[in-house]
This record gives sequence, C-alpha cells and structure tokens, in this order.
Amino acid sequence: MLKKILLPIATLFVFPSFLSGQGMWLPIDLINQEFNMISKGMKMSASDIYSANSGSLKDAIVHFGGFCTGEIISSKGLVLTNHHCGYGAIQKHSSVENDYLKHGFWAASMEDEKPNEGLYVDFIISIEDVSDKILPLVLNGLSEKQAIDSVLKSNPISGKSIGVTIKSIYYGNQFIQIVSQRFSDVRLVGAPPSAVGKFGADTDNWVWPRHTGDFSMFRVYTAPDGSPSDYSPQNIPLVSNNPLTISLAGVGQGDFSMIYGFPGRTTSYLPVSEVAQQIEIMLPIKVQLREIILNTWDSAMRVNPKVKIQYASKYASVSNGWKKWIGQMEGMSVSHGIDTLRHRQGKVIKYHSANHENAFRAVDLVEEFDKQVLSLENGRKSILYFQEVLRNWELLTWSRLANDLVRLSDRGGNIDKAIKALQSFEKNYDSELDRRASKNLVNEWISAGKLDTLLNVPIQYLEETDAFVQGLFSPHLYNSLPLNSSKYSDTIRVELCRNHLAFNLWTDLITKYRSVFLKNKDKENLFESGMKEWMNLHMSAAKGSGITLAADANSTMRVSFGEVGGFSPKDGATYNHRTTTDGILDKYIPGDYEFDLPQEFRSKLESQDFGKYADLDGKLPVCILSANHTSGGNSGSPALNSDGHLIGLNFDRVWEGTMSDFYFTPERCRNIMVDVRYIMWVVDKYAGASHLIEEMKFTN
Ligand code: ARG
Ligand code: GLU
Repeated sequence: MLKKILLPIATLFVFPSFLSGQGMWLPIDLINQEFNMISKGMKMSASDIYSANSGSLKDAIVHFGGFCTGEIISSKGLVLTNHHCGYGAIQKHSSVENDYLKHGFWAASMEDEKPNEGLYVDFIISIEDVSDKILPLVLNGLSEKQAIDSVLKSNPISGKSIGVTIKSIYYGNQFIQIVSQRFSDVRLVGAPPSAVGKFGADTDNWVWPRHTGDFSMFRVYTAPDGSPSDYSPQNIPLVSNNPLTISLAGVGQGDFSMIYGFPGRTTSYLPVSEVAQQIEIMLPIKVQLREIILNTWDSAMRVNPKVKIQYASKYASVSNGWKKWIGQMEGMSVSHGIDTLRHRQGKVIKYHSANHENAFRAVDLVEEFDKQVLSLENGRKSILYFQEVLRNWELLTWSRLANDLVRLSDRGGNIDKAIKALQSFEKNYDSELDRRASKNLVNEWISAGKLDTLLNVPIQYLEETDAFVQGLFSPHLYNSLPLNSSKYSDTIRVELCRNHLAFNLWTDLITKYRSVFLKNKDKENLFESGMKEWMNLHMSAAKGSGITLAADANSTMRVSFGEVGGFSPKDGATYNHRTTTDGILDKYIPGDYEFDLPQEFRSKLESQDFGKYADLDGKLPVCILSANHTSGGNSGSPALNSDGHLIGLNFDRVWEGTMSDFYFTPERCRNIMVDVRYIMWVVDKYAGASHLIEEMKFTN
C-alpha cells in the first residue's frame, strides 16, 4: 500500500508546538499531514485513506443515522457501531418477552435480521473544495446561504439517493462540497446484553479505567441491482468492495492510531474571553440545572424498578452532558487551558503586529470580541435557562405532542403518527415524578429570574396565568393528563388534550423563547462575522509558520491521529493504555443496575478461554486509550492502526480531557475505544455467532 514518500526536512515551527496532536482533518487535506502521520508510524499514504476515484478506507466509513459513525466490516455490508448508537433500534425491537436490551440479540441467519424504519447510513462519495466558487459570490454581496444555493443549482449532481451539500469550514473562509449516498434498509444483526454493551452505565461514563463493550452490529441492504432502496423483502446485502480488515495483532503504548468518522462540533479557535464565558459562566448554570433533574429522577429510580426502566435512557442522556461539562470545567482548570489559549491568542496578535498590513487588526478584533462577549452574556444566559427548561420539563413535551395531534386532527390529516408519538412518550412518563422534578427546576428558574431581571424569565406567566390558577405544579394538573391511551377513543383523546390546562404550555413558552433568542441574534451574527476574520488571522499566522490548521469539526467526515497510550491524570497516578477482562470481574456487583453480569458471561470470562483474541500476556484487552482528537459524533468510529486495519471502536473520551472541544492537549486528552479483539471474542465465544466471524477478514 505504501507509496514512496519523500520526507521534507522539518521546518522550524512557531505555532505547532502547542497544537501538537490537535485537529480533525478533512480527508482531502490529509496530504498535508502525510509527513506527520508517517513520522508517527503510519505505513500508508494519504490516498490509501481517502480517494474519490479509487478504493480507499473512506469507502468503509458511514455516517450512521446522522448521529454516529459506523464502518463496514465484511463484503456483505456488515456494519459495526456502538451499542449506544444502536440503542434506539435495539429498544424498539425489545418487548417484555424478548428483551434484547437485557439479554442481547443475535440474528441466527440473514432472514432474522431486523429492519429499522427511519434508520439509514450515508456513504461519502466525494469531498471537494469549492471555495473558489462560493467566495467570489459572497464578495459580491450574496449571503453564504444564497451563494451555496446558487452553486448547487448551477451544477446539479443526480443519482439514486445521492445528496449534495456545501458546508462552510473555517468559519466561512472555505467551503466544501460533499456528495454522499444514502442507504435506508439497515437491519439489526446483533447486540450484546446491556450488561456488556452498557457495562458501568452512567457511573463509568466518561471514566477510565473502562470496561464497556459498547458495540452492536447492523447490515446494509440494497435493491437486487445493488442500488439504495427502502426496506423490501427482496433486498439483498450490500456488496462492499472495501470492507475494513480486522487486526488481531493488538496495539501497545506508542503505536500509531487514527480515528475516521463524523465528529459533531469543536471550537478550538474562539477568543479567550468567549471560552472563559463558556467555561466559567455557562457550564456551571447548565450543570446546576441538570443536577436538579438528575437528583430527583435518581431518588425515584433507586426505589422504583418501573421508573428505573422508564427513565434509564432519559437519565443517561441528561447525565451524559452534565458529566462531560463538569469534566470540561475541571480539565480546563487543572490544565491551565485558558492560560494556554491566551498565550496562543497572544501569538496570533504578535504575528500580525509584526506584519504591517494587518498590524492592529488582531488587537482590535480581540478588543471587539471582549466587548461583544460581555454584552452577549445576559442574552446567552436567558437562552440557556430556556433551553434547559424546554428540554427537561416533560410536561412541555407532552404539550408539544398534544398540539401536534390536535392540529393534525383539526386539519383532517392522518393522526396515526401523532398518536404513536404520544403513546411512546407515555410509555416512559411518570407524571408524579415529572411534577416533582420540574417543580424544582422551574422554581430555580423563577428564583434566578427574580434575582436577575435581565434573564427574561416569564415569571408572571408562570405564576399568574389563568390556565394555572390551580397551581402549575399541583398534583391535579398532572393527574388529569389524558395519558394511558388505550382507555380513550381517538376523538375523545383529541378533545381531552385540547381542553387540558397544560395544552398551551409548549406554544406559550416556545414563543417566549423565540423572542429572547431573536433579541440576541444580531449580536451573535456580528460575533460570527468577527470569527470569520479571526479564523483568517489564525490561518495566515499559521501559514507564516509553515503549517495548516485543522478546521473545527462540523459533522463532516474527519480523520484524527495520534499515539496509543495512557497518561497521568494527576500527580502520583498513571492510567495504563488498556484494561482487561480482569477489571470486569473486579467491578461486578450482583443485582446492581450498572455492574451486574449474566452468570454465563462471568463463567466464560472466568474460564479465560481467549484463544486467538488474547494479548501477548494471555489477557483479553477490553478498552484502550489513544491521544486522538475526537468529539461527540465520533461514537462508532473505527480506530485504525498504521496499516489501516481495525484495532478498536471509538465510544468515549476520558473525563480529564473532555475540554478537548475547546482545548486539546496530548498530555491529558484521550479517546476511549473498545479493543476489537474483545468485540470479536464476545461475538465468537459468548454469542456463538461464528457465521459473522466467517464473513470478516482478519490479519495478525
Ligand atoms: N459518553 C459517551 C458519548 O458521549 C457515551 C454516552 C452513552 N452512555 C451513557 N452512559 N450515557 O456519547
Ligand atoms: N460518546 C460520544 C458519541 O456519542 C463520543 C464521545 C465524545 O464525545 O468524544 O459520539
């Protein structure tokens, strides 16, 4: 695979000393990183990783459902992704009799693989820099959106299920066009029991040492002619020419690794005042508000098994952000991230001060930012309170769904979907718990609004509106919700919804939210256009030092690379680069909701029959650490070794390094992967799905 590459003589870089390891690279820009990657041990060329016209690793990487990453691991379209990415699909197929979440699921043959309405994967066909088409239009006065629309219109690309988008990168300084193809028959093939796939659940989430087997498998199906198609019994498994090869060789400290996937959003180039506001003002508010919800839910989940099932997934989602933000605040403080960012900002200013043309622009811009950030603060806080309340007050969700139903019914439309949506909400809704949790949340909001009128809390509405004369949090309001759908006919249900006291709650609050949001919009737009210039100043400063900067993540396809390895989270402590199954047994707590293990699984682990999946010392690795820059959306991304072979499945980051969204440092930022050998051992030896193992290609 490796073509001959001449390594350029290293230039003296001013910039990269503190950017080391940072960056999620667009596959088309990897050519600039080839030298760096090879010096870290890579044995491939950039075109082995991405090529629009000939086979490359890119062909095996999919955007899974638009929210995660997945990869093709057999010539028959088998997809590997995380358990938490497949969770919704696994949950939908589960029932009390066949609880696949609890016991796991393995299709015995292709006939048993389970279709999932609405689930799709996108393959990337090509990525192209179209800045020279967009930027002149923007210079001529078109908005970015108008320019994008006009370029898309002038060059239509068609094909079955082909999608073409143009996305801004570097805050509007460049634009890329992405052509992708969507396959929408994606079937569930297998998932381990949650005790494996979600082992350690929320307690271990974001935490190292980790022992979660966070994986599941799907398969892409196509029409008989190989083209994309919605589900049909006639469909056949996708024929893939370039599936990933699975490495059983394992990796050790210092080995090259890379992550290929779709990270959602990072903000590595913000002015310091902006980062400081996020970390010191916004995150603490979000953490405090989520804590109110989590504490109330947790106390009920601990004593009521039904509530535990109903709220497990919601709890996981609310707590995922909560825990990450705490990690970000701590990580930023311990690593003195703000100081480093200030130093970096100083360097950009210094570079431009020395460069006559822009001599004072950088200084001026930073001053403008500092003022803007200050004047945006109150509006941002207001928005944030609104968002947390809108997201976590479940009565509002009910009111939104009830509105959808009534509106559809009044229009004489088909209400089946709206009824279904309400039913699935009700299935996991405990009105008394919501009453208590949101009472605490909304009271906090009201008291914050009384202390600080600039927060725009609609106090009068919440306290005095006619609809709530009976008390916004009275048991009556909640008890009288027309839940339990089977009791009512559709017509009665529509009327009960329409006439309920809480019916207008969503519409009223969302309208208030929109007006608060709009108040800040102009200021935010101004900030954004400043960011375009600021990013440009970064880029030219970096160029002056001979380097390219990676664009912040924006859900487009990216590659990050680094070295496998542990680190020291604090003085006197070190983390190894791997965990083994020994740790699973150490963590086992019988009957516990997060750390229980099925008897059969324990016996398998205890028998230590790891065969070809074992590491050199005979142990079976479970999770591994690497200094790859990743973010949300990289879940399910393949971890590849120097030959491009699959060594692991990305699913998390260490808590100590979650601030990498703002500030990446290889000293403490690590992504967490499931070792592919553990995955294969579970599939082969525990699930007994040897027919799947036979589909895959292994190497040592
Ligand atoms: N922290 C990982 C991510 O951000 C995993 C989340 C799912 N697991 C959980 N226990 N909430 O998506
Ligand atoms: N668990 C995350 C995801 O779902 C990946 C972890 C991260 O944020 O890096 O994408």
